[in-house]
Amino acid sequence: MPATVSIHGQWSTRLAFVLAATGSAVGLGNIWRFPYIAGDNGGGAFVLVYLACILLIGLPIMMGEILLGRRGRQSPINTMLTLAREEGLSRSWGLMGWIGVLAGFLILSFYSVIAGWALAYVFKAGTGSFSGLDAEGSAEVFGAMLANPEGLLAWHTIFMVMTAMVVARGVRSGLERAVTILMPALVVLLIVLVGYSMAQGAFMDGLRFLFQPDFTALSPNAVLLAMGQAFFTLSLGMGAIMVYGSYLSSEASIAKTSGSVVAADTVVALLAGLAIFPILFAAGLSPEQGPGLIFVTLPLAFGEMPFGVFFGTLFFVLLVFAAWTSAISLIEPAVAFMVENLQLNRVFATTVVAMLAWTLGIAALLSLNVWSDYTLFDRGVLDILDYLTANILLPLGGFLIALFVGWRMTERSVQSELRLTLGGIYTVWYFLVRYVAPIAILLVFLRAVGLI
Ligand code: PFF
Repeated sequence: MPATVSIHGQWSTRLAFVLAATGSAVGLGNIWRFPYIAGDNGGGAFVLVYLACILLIGLPIMMGEILLGRRGRQSPINTMLTLAREEGLSRSWGLMGWIGVLAGFLILSFYSVIAGWALAYVFKAGTGSFSGLDAEGSAEVFGAMLANPEGLLAWHTIFMVMTAMVVARGVRSGLERAVTILMPALVVLLIVLVGYSMAQGAFMDGLRFLFQPDFTALSPNAVLLAMGQAFFTLSLGMGAIMVYGSYLSSEASIAKTSGSVVAADTVVALLAGLAIFPILFAAGLSPEQGPGLIFVTLPLAFGEMPFGVFFGTLFFVLLVFAAWTSAISLIEPAVAFMVENLQLNRVFATTVVAMLAWTLGIAALLSLNVWSDYTLFDRGVLDILDYLTANILLPLGGFLIALFVGWRMTERSVQSELRLTLGGIYTVWYFLVRYVAPIAILLVFLRAVGLI
């Protein structure tokens, strides 16, 4: 039997877990990645597929991932080993935990570089560099930042140290309070930005771009990207949610908890889209800006609106915080494993993982400038790390979670952990985890590589 409480501690309340999981989910994925990927892939139809993936694949797998974590009560690798033993299954299920640890480490390396951009923009906003900026000037500011490896390295380093410091102390201290105050503040600020977009931007154009689907514009690869984005934004498929689930008390409702996290995450992504695209269209920019989308677009609004220096600085500060609470959850599975199996103390384990991710992050940031000629399939290091993790490793992890929960665990174990009192919800969920999610992931993979 697994222990009923994790050796790493337990959340004080269900709300604490919801906050931490929301902190993990809401991050650069919502505000930086969602708008730029939607922009690159034609908007409407992509957004619709993304939302379908959130609801039909993401939500059921999130419940599955929390369920596994809470039942195993250890790091994802040991949780999978324990649960496999309990159910009389092969030890190879432990591999799933390893894939997650690898994915978390790879994501952290480039995530910290992008969070570094946000840190740099806190200071650009604060010193009034955006006032009177036009689209061309804004693109220049962004380009100059990418062209300066020393600057990028400094911000990347600062962000990685910030992340390691929190993880080393144990994820619970501070996280709860930070998320309670900062997450609502971020939502309020996004609403202010949407208000500005309504008044000053090409709001109808933005709305049409985001919500009017044109399926002819949707390539098979865009469907893979939409699914990858759903996994990335919900922090699914790599054990981050599993490890947080392992600190959840046995009484809390997994279904309600997952519902709140998914809803909050989706609201933030859609608000970001609603704020950004009208500003972009009003400035005559193309939605296909790539990863620089928000960094080129938002300064235009901050440069023009009343109290723009204040709002701009606050926005990037909150973005850094959102990235911070996500980055913490990226290292936690690896750190929990090292503490359990190698008897390392948290500080040392965290330092090792953060230093490795920091080193790989340097390769990622050099791919934006000095190493920009080194590409594979037309992608540099940062791009490869992002593509490989979000579109391949996370959905693969999700697929294995669905197989384990839906097909390999006995239904009795599943039911006793989930304890859903409403039978209807249980039936729908079990159907989604058993059939819809794994089959959909498989089909999207096969279609993306051209096999169907
Ligand atoms: N969900 C985070 C975001 O949207 O920014 C990124 C992320 C965090 C992905 C943790 C995966 C993860 F395990």
